[in-house]
Amino acid sequence: MSKKTDFLIIGSGIAGMVYALKVAEHGKVILVSKTNLEETSTSYAQGGIAAVMYSPDTYGKHIADTLKAGSLINNEKIVRITITESTERVKELIEWGTHFDKESSGKYNLAREGGHSEFRILHHKDNTGFEIQRALTKTVMSHPNISVWENVFTVDLITQHHKGQLVNRSTKNIECYGAYILDGNHKIVTVLARKTMIATGGMGNIYQTTTNPVIASGDGIAMAYRAKAEVENLEFVQFHPTSLYNPGEKPSFLITEAMRGSGAILKTRSGKEFMHKYHELGSLAPRDIVARAIDNELKISGDDYVYLDTSGISEMELLNHFPTIYAKCLKIGIDITKDMIPVVPAAHYSCGGIKTDEFGRTSIKNLYASGEVASTGLHGANRLASNSLLEAAVFSHRAAADATASFKTVDIQKDIPDWDSEGTVLNEEMILITQSKKELQSIMTNYVGIVRSNMRLKRAYDRLTIIYNETEDLYDKSIISKDICELRNLINVAYLVIKLAKKRKQSIGLHYSIDY
Ligand code: FAD
Ligand code: SIN
Repeated sequence: MSKKTDFLIIGSGIAGMVYALKVAEHGKVILVSKTNLEETSTSYAQGGIAAVMYSPDTYGKHIADTLKAGSLINNEKIVRITITESTERVKELIEWGTHFDKESSGKYNLAREGGHSEFRILHHKDNTGFEIQRALTKTVMSHPNISVWENVFTVDLITQHHKGQLVNRSTKNIECYGAYILDGNHKIVTVLARKTMIATGGMGNIYQTTTNPVIASGDGIAMAYRAKAEVENLEFVQFHPTSLYNPGEKPSFLITEAMRGSGAILKTRSGKEFMHKYHELGSLAPRDIVARAIDNELKISGDDYVYLDTSGISEMELLNHFPTIYAKCLKIGIDITKDMIPVVPAAHYSCGGIKTDEFGRTSIKNLYASGEVASTGLHGANRLASNSLLEAAVFSHRAAADATASFKTVDIQKDIPDWDSEGTVLNEEMILITQSKKELQSIMTNYVGIVRSNMRLKRAYDRLTIIYNETEDLYDKSIISKDICELRNLINVAYLVIKLAKKRKQSIGLHYSIDY
């Protein structure tokens, strides 16, 4: 079965939705989501979206903070574009119905997070992402040109390879013609599009402990890499310093950095403040430094967690600004107006991804990427807090401008074969998939975590190769399913993280090796 559309969008988070609303003004759109529309990392975002709103803040200060957090290996041009377009993009989110908290004066209430020299985070209490997703979903659902497909799984991008041509990493002018999508009836639909956007989010689930929802399995990066798109910077995996220590809970519940921005302080289990030993900004130092400091303190003490002491924040602010965290903690017996919160670092964000330019264009023609799946160069070696929702809004806007200007000159392909499932059988042993996933997460957590070494990376590579070979064999023989595809994608992206980490012979930002 095949379907045709002007624009195919894979992903329903902020990146997919912003792009959808813009291109839908020009043509027909199919927007697909792996589960329901709202189950995205976007919905889980707490702290907010960084943007320059009022003096004394300036674009220059936000640019400087972003470059400093990224250890100056950011793409400066991209940093400038993102920050100078921040105010416009935030206004647009507001026009689409997003509510950000305001002061009684009518001005937006701005929060501060690690690495920011000014208060510049627009937020909706401590559930900003949920609010953005709510507003965007409502607007998308009412757009007549957008057809939404939920609970479908994009398996692979379609390129010349599927027309029988040889495509390898040195092939010039690879083109994207759409994607093969597994529908709810276990059938693969061939979706042919003039322009395809990958907005599939992150890959946190390559680790045992992550703040990311289960949908974050690196599918977009893996499928783009298989299609021979360029990827980069995947060694820069950001661990959020403060996820709630609540063993067994998946995803790990985030304790927003905005709490530290409001005055919360990290302490050891024995009650000693420790961040001043690591950075002059103390508990508000950039994330890579705080996560590493906690990791180090835990190794020294042998404890399972450190504490976040919120006693410096008034009860009124705790209840008004952080109601979601208050309610969540209370449910497990922690009253944040009285008790300290036990926290541990958790895999949180992928700074790298599919390499894109200033219009979200990938190295494959007619294929765009935006949001966490993309590597625009904004973050360098470490992302500044609350810059990712902003990055998605900016580059989805820019990609839409580029795609709508040229889509009419792109023909929809005619001679693409249907998915070939000949010779495959139903895999009735889920244990083969679930156990390999656990092994992969254990390898990545133990050898490719916050602190790395050459020996650890080599061991991770060797162990992963075994799981890779077993999984490819199973994939070739099995009737396609979401579970086998996700495992394969997790292995693909884990392999890329290790490969790029091995290649980087220095400690910088989020890539920290005891050997350098
Ligand atoms: P997502 O919002 O993750 O959307 C991905 C979409 O792709 C989903 O619809 C999914 O179903 C779909 N998809 C994936 N694979 C497939 C497939 N194979 N087939 C079909 N569909 C697929 N950033 C900030 O700037 N500020 C914050 O305060 C903040 N807080 C955060 C808190 C948490 C707990 C987390 C996890 C992240 C936070 N981040 C924050 C990061 C930010 O939320 C994400 O980077 C951003 O929302 C990613 O948006 P996205 O549109 O790229 O992807
Ligand atoms: C947080 O609220 O601490 C998360 C912010 C982010 O990931 O940018």
